[in-house]
Amino acid sequence: MKRSSKCIWGDDMLTVSNIDLHYGAAQALYGVSLTAAKGEVTTLLGRNGVGKTSLLRAIVGRQPVSSGEIVWDRDPIHRLRADKRAALGIASVPQGREIFPLLTVKENLETGFARLPKTERHIPQEVFDLFPVLHDMLGRRGGDLSGGQQQQLAIGRALVTRPGLLVLDEPTEGIQPSIIKDIGRAIDFLRQRGDMAILLVEQFFEFARDLADRFHVMDRGEIVMSGRRDEMIESDVRRRLSV
Ligand SMILES: Nc1ncnc2c1ncn2[C@@H]1O[C@H](COP(=O)(O)OP(=O)(O)OP(=O)(O)O)[C@@H](O)[C@H]1O
Ligand SMILES: [Mg+2]
Repeated sequence: MKRSSKCIWGDDMLTVSNIDLHYGAAQALYGVSLTAAKGEVTTLLGRNGVGKTSLLRAIVGRQPVSSGEIVWDRDPIHRLRADKRAALGIASVPQGREIFPLLTVKENLETGFARLPKTERHIPQEVFDLFPVLHDMLGRRGGDLSGGQQQQLAIGRALVTRPGLLVLDEPTEGIQPSIIKDIGRAIDFLRQRGDMAILLVEQFFEFARDLADRFHVMDRGEIVMSGRRDEMIESDVRRRLSV
């Protein structure tokens, strides 16, 4: 068993083994494997269209895998429906945010209640500590928020479910720098707390590098580089990200 700085590597983690994924006849993922551990940020880097979102969809149950295995907390989950995976503590902040524009901020946050027992159906204070703007705007419609505020709402909605695995798909995409900083601080806070595995998909290299404990780089549906942050050769990774 390998030891990481904050937790015993091998406990309570996500293991993706050798998955293939197809859209009809087109193959999007080829033998992809990766791991993510609690108390760590694992980043997945790769340029447009290489399969990052497809991998996250496979993990959260929005797209079936053709072969391979996904294990979370020692349970194989790749045949479970998305709602069953959510009930096991897997939460996602999807690309493009997918908040409900006609629901208020409060109602958007409360959509996370569905998977919680009745006694736990409240919005954790940490959501408002991390993103005070959500508290200020509780009665506002989701669609009236700026892109950055919507991103904070999407993260807040995921946190309402008290996840053990949080996957974020390009949370900095199209977001202004001050809010990118807030999102970075929030991810760092959640990592430090140590009870959550965080899988972060990014194309914004510096943001991902600064947060990563572990990184994977994807190209054309395959993982082409992996390692701990201190093993990362920046120039090699950057080359993979440029077109
Ligand atoms: N619903 C779908 N039906 C058919 N093909 C798809 C579908 N979604 C994605 N693809 C294809 O699968 C491949 C990987 O797409 P994916 O969205 O996973 O890439 P990505 O790395 O997330 O890209 P981006 O950085 O633009 O978000 C691409 O060739 C894409 O065209
Ligand atoms: Mg994508």
